[in-house]
Amino acid sequence: MLSEETLERGERERVLETPCGPVAYGLENVIVKVTSISDIDGERGILWYRGYRIDELARHSTYEETAYLLLYGRLPSRRELEDFRGRLLASMELSPVTVSILRELAGVHPMFAMESALAAEGAFDSENQRLSEALKQGKYSAAEMKLAIKVAERLIAKLPIIVAWHYRLSRRLDVIKPREDLSYAANILYVMSGREPDPIMTRGMDLFLVLHADHEIPASTFAALVTASTFSDMYSVIVTALAALKGPLHGGANEAALANYMRVGDPAKAKDVVEAAAKPKGPRLAGVGHRVYRTYDPRAAILREFFTREFLPKFGDPDGLFSIASAIEREVLNHPYFQQRRLYPNVDFWSGILLHYMGVPREYFTPMFAVSRVAGWLAHALEYWENNRILRPRACYVGPRDLKYVLIDER
Ligand code: SDX
Repeated sequence: MLSEETLERGERERVLETPCGPVAYGLENVIVKVTSISDIDGERGILWYRGYRIDELARHSTYEETAYLLLYGRLPSRRELEDFRGRLLASMELSPVTVSILRELAGVHPMFAMESALAAEGAFDSENQRLSEALKQGKYSAAEMKLAIKVAERLIAKLPIIVAWHYRLSRRLDVIKPREDLSYAANILYVMSGREPDPIMTRGMDLFLVLHADHEIPASTFAALVTASTFSDMYSVIVTALAALKGPLHGGANEAALANYMRVGDPAKAKDVVEAAAKPKGPRLAGVGHRVYRTYDPRAAILREFFTREFLPKFGDPDGLFSIASAIEREVLNHPYFQQRRLYPNVDFWSGILLHYMGVPREYFTPMFAVSRVAGWLAHALEYWENNRILRPRACYVGPRDLKYVLIDER
């Protein structure tokens, strides 16, 4: 256990020497699987999906194509992409039970609604059950892989509908079905608002989805793998990931970063805010720092560029959020505390502002992150099943042993 004074000082060991050997706190740098899905170079700030650099995909691809790439391991032909889009669209519907659960959960935080609705949807997905039965018999060959991909595509199709219909039902609005002529990103904004989105807004949503689609093994993906490794069902794998993503140290940071900018309210106050965070036990600046990136998160750089090149020229910065965030960014980049610890803006530093300007309420930011990341979570689960082993780490016991039991009246 960490000593009282260590905890008090707010310091944390990175690697703790124990009688059983070194413990890497937070599993820092511990390798849990081999993958060809995504890779991060934290020193140079590079992210690859299946070997393609994220800036290439951000420039040329769409979320549908990126999700296909993550799931199938290669870019689709035009025909394959059209067929994939058609299958997603055909699955963008929910069982009546799920819709009634969303109605009952109207007004609660959407992450809770997503977890409940997805569990219900999975209970009625017969192919999800069939796959789970096969896994129980230890079968995972070509037939099961095909079934798993089908269930995975349905999950990618249903998640945005769960989010958008919860948004509508929470405002006593009728639910809206997606349109065949709209892309995945445009449909998310359309099914939420009932209006066909401006092309720049669609571009912004698509970029958000491409950038968040996978990121090697963050906490939520590791959680998904733990559940997948027990041969639980695919919907439960995603429910596990949702629960992990919800935390403010992970997926909840975009919501926290926007709340911070709104609280600061004035670029001139950026210096004080950054100063307050620049101490070991100070309030963490949401959207800053990363376990792997020791430089500017490439996804954050791409979002920043989208703002300056495409978004601001057309829509401006109506709530002043971009200028507040830019002032905070300047202070962070020039502050010795952050420089010494190599803490830079991460994807959440800018993503909340983009979602806010697209009309997505703050409590739906992490759900949108999940809508994108479901492709990566599924790809990693399917890849892990190819050589499955239940994830069962050890702990180093440092407590007493063989104590004598004392009867209660003698204590
Ligand atoms: C995501 O893993 C992924 O890939 C996640 C993600 C993905 O795509 O899946 O990239 C998405 O979750 C991005 C991160 C979003 N979270 C935040 O923005 C929350 C704020 N950031 C931090 O809490 C923190 O930086 C983490 C959680 C992201 C990383 O934490 P680590 O690697 O465990 O770092 P640490 O807590 O050991 O901090 C190291 C030092 C500490 O100071 P000292 O003890 O050395 O004096 O840096 C300090 C920390 O106090 N520090 C910060 C800080 N982040 C770290 N100080 C102020 N503000 C911050 N944001």
